[in-house]
Amino acid sequence: MRIVFVADVFGPPGREAVESQLPALREELGAALAVVNGENVADGRGITPRLADRLLASGADVVTLGNHTWARDGMGPYLDASDRVIRPANLASSAPGRALAVVEAADGTPVAVCNVLGQLFLDVPVGPFEVLDRLAEEARGRARVVLVDFHAEATSEKMAVARWLDGRVTAVIGTHTHVQTADARIQPGGTATISDAGMTGPHDSVIGVEADLAIQRMRTGIPVRFKPAKGGVRLEGVVLDCDPETGRATAIEPLRIDVS
Ligand SMILES: [Fe+2]
Repeated sequence: MRIVFVADVFGPPGREAVESQLPALREELGAALAVVNGENVADGRGITPRLADRLLASGADVVTLGNHTWARDGMGPYLDASDRVIRPANLASSAPGRALAVVEAADGTPVAVCNVLGQLFLDVPVGPFEVLDRLAEEARGRARVVLVDFHAEATSEKMAVARWLDGRVTAVIGTHTHVQTADARIQPGGTATISDAGMTGPHDSVIGVEADLAIQRMRTGIPVRFKPAKGGVRLEGVVLDCDPETGRATAIEPLRIDVS
């Protein structure tokens, strides 16, 4: 079976790219399932209930999040009520929502999707290794095909987590840096991985933000209100093939489509 993963959707340009491309792309690729990381769809930081619904309406079966899960109002009650929009597993135990979604793909295969945050350069209450074993086991108990969106900054941590889960899940897909890495591979145990799947949004930018504003903040140290850039929009992510019976990955290919 084939799954399409759409990397970090950034601001209105990213959302428009998903809305205009994803339905046809699913069809063209013959993908039975689409997973979209939507943590920065709201103007480049966070997500709102309305925008999460729009991603689901445009063809996402599951929406994953990250370190900006709580950047906008209203997400707590929304996540509590949703079984398709998930937040990272390693938050405080009192955090609303869930970190694991089990959905049926178009071909009838049950697929589990989970979301975990890295701890290097990110502020997390619980380290990823504290939750990974239990989460992978729970996911595997509910579906043979298991996808982990590992939302983290450092390639070393992403490689370590991918290797730790090798043979236990179908794929570990890195998100958060917005720069697609050239290391998509299947590990010895059959788990596909990529350190970062990239960004769906404006690439004529500094990781999505208008370059002048990002540079101004770095040069002066004075806070600047960021705006999403507009140019060089690409849809990025990965296309994953796997055996629905065993859950083993058979191929992983980066996805990189110029939109405008
Ligand atoms: Fe992030």
